[in-house]
Amino acid sequence: MSSESHDEQPRDAAHPTHDEIVAREGHDVEPAEPIDNPGLPEHLPRPTDVDPKLEKRAERQVAGMFTAAIVLAVGFCVAYFTVPKDAEIFGWFSLNLALGLTLGGALFLIGIGAIQWAKKLMADHEVIEMRHPARSSDEDREAALEAVDAGVDESGFGRRPLIRNSLIGAVAFLGLPAIVMLRDLGPLPGDKPFNTVWRKGMRVVNDVSGEPLSPGDIEVGQLVNAQPSVFFETDSHGHAVFHGTELLQAKAKASVIVVRIRPDDITPRKGQSNWDVDGIMVYSKICTHVGCPISLWEQQTHHLLCPCHQTTYDLADGGKVIFGPGHRPLPQLPLAVDEDGYLIATSDFREPVGPSFPEVHQNRD
Ligand code: FES
Repeated sequence: MSSESHDEQPRDAAHPTHDEIVAREGHDVEPAEPIDNPGLPEHLPRPTDVDPKLEKRAERQVAGMFTAAIVLAVGFCVAYFTVPKDAEIFGWFSLNLALGLTLGGALFLIGIGAIQWAKKLMADHEVIEMRHPARSSDEDREAALEAVDAGVDESGFGRRPLIRNSLIGAVAFLGLPAIVMLRDLGPLPGDKPFNTVWRKGMRVVNDVSGEPLSPGDIEVGQLVNAQPSVFFETDSHGHAVFHGTELLQAKAKASVIVVRIRPDDITPRKGQSNWDVDGIMVYSKICTHVGCPISLWEQQTHHLLCPCHQTTYDLADGGKVIFGPGHRPLPQLPLAVDEDGYLIATSDFREPVGPSFPEVHQNRD
């Protein structure tokens, strides 16, 4: 390695030239011998390179995987439409299981098929990539494009229509699940946002114990979290009337708070003067801003504060918003007492509960 050749290289502190080493050491040193390039090991042909039968078999295997991927993609669509949402198998939701297995299986088989294709059937020769500047020369770029063309040629994509067509089919069918799932954007909710499970005569019960509440249970200044009694009831077979996702969705709309305020302090909204029982009022627990559950209660001021964005309602003044981003009053549930002395609703809410949206009308009737 001569010093002249090094002079043409850029200076590198980590790789001093021979002259620099001599100057630093104070005496001449033997230049290091480069390590011999061990070269590449002898190339051995694969079984599929030398045996046409094995080659054909590998081709069928790969096509089989791509075809199975098509079947699984179709299976995804069938499961999506036929398996009930709440059906369970081994304690798991079977719809999720079916969708996951079919879609995951299809992707897995396409991946494995592509690997097998590359390992067993595509051209098998070593490629050496020399170090070069980050930007390739124009010649190299042209060569790269030619190499891509050669790769396409060598992969047999044009020559093996069975694999090519089955792969195209598998990838095309993968688009089906994406299209099918657009169905979940609908249907439109109809009047669901305007209704809850509250009905005339339904008791107001403690949300933990399920015990019906009577006026004597609520002291002035007190707030109690409550639910409609139907959430604690069973049908003729002993099964809960509401359960699972249905229960959570119904609870998200029907949860209420019960408060008692001195009757003289109450200013009812127009048409709601008889909606309380001796100062006991039931309001929706769901903030009309974006739907957080609320129960931060200021006994002295009758204010109810939402912890999410601080919308504050005055429950002595018809649930009016006095601060924060909410702009609809908290809906009130009309209340009465049944013949057994328990608090009951006299109807559903008369206005939509929960977050506001453009279609919300102020009053149902
Ligand atoms: S959700 Fe209650 S203030 Fe925003």
